[in-house]
Amino acid sequence: MTPSINDTATDTVSATGTTIVPVAIAHTPFAEKFAIPRQPALAPAATAVIELLPPFDHPDAVNGLEGVSHIWLLFQFHQVKTEAKLKVRPPRLGGNRSVGVFASRSTHRPNGIGQSVVKLEKVEGHRLRVSGVDLLNGTPIIDIKPYVPYADAIAGARNDIAPQAPAAIRVEWEAEARHQAEEEARRLGEAVIDLTEQCLAQDPKPAYQNPDAGRRYGVQLWDINVTWHYPQPDTIRVLNISRCDIPAE
Ligand SMILES: C[S@@+](CC[C@H](N)C(=O)[O-])C[C@H]1O[C@@H](n2cnc3c(N)ncnc32)[C@H](O)[C@@H]1O
Repeated sequence: MTPSINDTATDTVSATGTTIVPVAIAHTPFAEKFAIPRQPALAPAATAVIELLPPFDHPDAVNGLEGVSHIWLLFQFHQVKTEAKLKVRPPRLGGNRSVGVFASRSTHRPNGIGQSVVKLEKVEGHRLRVSGVDLLNGTPIIDIKPYVPYADAIAGARNDIAPQAPAAIRVEWEAEARHQAEEEARRLGEAVIDLTEQCLAQDPKPAYQNPDAGRRYGVQLWDINVTWHYPQPDTIRVLNISRCDIPAE
């Protein structure tokens, strides 16, 4: 079940004394941190509802947003302890190379603030339907801003630490698992197969792990457990899809 804002939000006081309170909560398929894409847009099938909270749960607060294709979400990494570290080891770099905290998009950062640009699919009253999210279910959103192409898309920008999206790895299915996924997709009305494939193609396991074929991995998407293994180091095979105890929203 999605945590209520009272379970998750931590009101924080900024350096200027302003209290930061969530303006919305994200309802996403991701029940746990493992296997969430490491940046937005890597899994277009990762759809979510951003539910505005009082006093912003009013059409006035999003008036004009229909004319915008993408939005920035600023949010709290509410399931990470805020730390004052100078250097971090991003999983993207294999977990064995460290860089300065301000040279990374790590979740371990001074004020625990994340930012993701996501596709705005639809404005429905006080709910925004978005896709391509990299957020845990229940993430408190502290601000929403329109993406401004002429200012935010920088031609010729470079990042030598993360120059390009990681190469996707091959995802295949046991026939029975695929059949189960199709049934769950019908029940939930969600793109279970696409989301599973897009998340697993990012290779969720830590980059330093050498998976042996006997080791099983699993993650919860909505109320479904997805189980897989690595028959070869560069291939994931989905073994099982099953319903778990936690009900879908
Ligand atoms: C590397 S961060 C990048 C987030 C954002 N795009 C940014 O650059 O600030 C993405 C990871 O954060 C983790 N995550 C997402 N939402 C979270 C939350 N509410 N609390 C803690 N960790 C979260 C997931 O494991 C996800 O793969």
